[in-house]
Amino acid sequence: MWAARDWRIRFHKSCLRRAKAPGSRCWGRASNLPKDIIIDCDVGIDDALAIMLALASKEVKIRAITTVAGNAEVEKTSQNALKVLEAFDVSDIPVARGHARPLNRELYTAGYVHGLDGLGDADLPRPKLKLDSRHAVDLIIEEAERGDLHLVCTGPLTNLASALIKAPHIVERLRDVTIMGGAFGLTPYGFGNVTPVSEFNAYVDPEAAKMVFASGLKLTAVGLDVTTDPKATLTKDKYERLVVLPSRGARFLKKISANLMKSWGSFCLHDPMAIAYVVDPTLFTVKEYPVDVETEGI
Ligand code: BDR
Ligand code: CA
Repeated sequence: MWAARDWRIRFHKSCLRRAKAPGSRCWGRASNLPKDIIIDCDVGIDDALAIMLALASKEVKIRAITTVAGNAEVEKTSQNALKVLEAFDVSDIPVARGHARPLNRELYTAGYVHGLDGLGDADLPRPKLKLDSRHAVDLIIEEAERGDLHLVCTGPLTNLASALIKAPHIVERLRDVTIMGGAFGLTPYGFGNVTPVSEFNAYVDPEAAKMVFASGLKLTAVGLDVTTDPKATLTKDKYERLVVLPSRGARFLKKISANLMKSWGSFCLHDPMAIAYVVDPTLFTVKEYPVDVETEGI
């Protein structure tokens, strides 16, 4: 059913009509059981918001969080994952540290967006929670083999590519994979955010992205085409209405994003959109395209 190079791009519904076009597809479960997910992430600010969205959504159950270098070094992104869980009193989700650098090149980080600590330099307390003893790649393989797993990747694809190298059979075991990544030129917003053509997660580890797109996984890419649509941007106005709400989530959002909002005046909810797709695929319309990743040029 799934061709080796099939992949799917989600268009935010606000760009399109609510009714699904004939022939468009989405997949979800008929039952009301939550989907089991692993979030593989480089916890920066929007990854943290993605975790918060997943924690708050009855449609998904987080089996584990795995971390990778990207927005910041992997030691920081791993501690940030623990900080987010601790802020919401969650202590039963394993967090496993993954790769410290891309497959084939030096690490490029995004302190200019996410702060030096990767989480808005919010000075959050050092977490008491500890990391799982497994490597992220082994945890992903183990959980994929257990079955019934939806993998959501919101960082560079280094861990997933390594899992595919080590255990190629997981292609058949993973129910599906949703990634935040790529810029596909499919909407007026589908251009790069690091170079004119490269999206950050693909830019940091293009060899991994190339491998993942060529793997035959049931893959959905939520790209910048969708996530930078101005209609989906968290504007200052919306932000100010959100952060005064009397909730722990609102207070945490304010802590981690105050500096970002001050410097940039608004921001995109890239990673939460990948979770939003898994939570409610009907919010998005899917189109299929072949994809390759250019690894030599700018
Ligand atoms: C992606 O880059 C990172 O900085 C964000 O966390 C998001 O995953 C957007 O290009
Ligand atoms: Ca991310």
